[in-house]
Amino acid sequence: MAYQTINVTPVTPNIGGLVSDIDLTKPLDPATVQELHDALMDRQVLFFRDQELTHETQKALGEHFGRLHVSVGGDGTNSKQLNDHPEVRALHFDKDSTAISGNETWHTDQSCMETPPMGTILYIHTVPPDGGGDTMFASMYAAYDALSDNMKRYLEGVTALHDGAGAFARTATNNLPITEQPVIAKHPVTGRRLLFINPIFTTRICGVSKDESDAILGYLFHHCEHPNFQVRFNWSPHSIAFWDNRCTHHRALWDYYPHTRSGYRIQIEGTDRVIPG
Ligand code: SIN
Repeated sequence: MAYQTINVTPVTPNIGGLVSDIDLTKPLDPATVQELHDALMDRQVLFFRDQELTHETQKALGEHFGRLHVSVGGDGTNSKQLNDHPEVRALHFDKDSTAISGNETWHTDQSCMETPPMGTILYIHTVPPDGGGDTMFASMYAAYDALSDNMKRYLEGVTALHDGAGAFARTATNNLPITEQPVIAKHPVTGRRLLFINPIFTTRICGVSKDESDAILGYLFHHCEHPNFQVRFNWSPHSIAFWDNRCTHHRALWDYYPHTRSGYRIQIEGTDRVIPG
């Protein structure tokens, strides 16, 4: 895709784009915002380097794409909502961390909500000294496209339960959502079909025995992990990943203990229920 205001270099054929020729610390004009949106729809996750964001500039970036979401959960230590910016969550891991909670498992953020977040903007300012702490992303368009015709037919019209207890049971104070979602979904903007299941939240295929559900979900989770669907971002200080949560999985790596990795995350509210594909 050609752009007038930004430069986007694909990172893999299926997913990921490195955006350059942009300064996210300054106000963005409508043409640039539109091109960022187009690039996100095409590449599913955008990466930016050398952008020193404040909480205000990170929120202003997100607000170009929708209302900011105030997320539930987090352990209050490694993942903490900021008192004066409730839309911003601090993610911080160091020598005192004992786990990185659900982030180490492939997931789509809050897929248990009726309307899951549209996207997430993660800004990392401090990275481990010897590398590590990458984030992996997987295209659920590519995962759907690679299913056999028989499996696509089997999954047609099938729904599954997404249970918030998987990620939030230990920490959330509000009711934990459980939502029935289509297994094959249609993206509300691109209209492309995608697989909408993930190992943190999806617990059960509806209308079949538990054995059948476990077997099908086990196959699909394994299928989604194929390296051909993935891109891996190696963070440098003050870099950003902006992902379309509706068509991707992501997974953080915790290979840098006891070093420090630290940053801030915001999420953008979704506007549509997940559309059956
Ligand atoms: C997340 O799962 O939202 C965090 C990903 C990361 O820390 O790389």
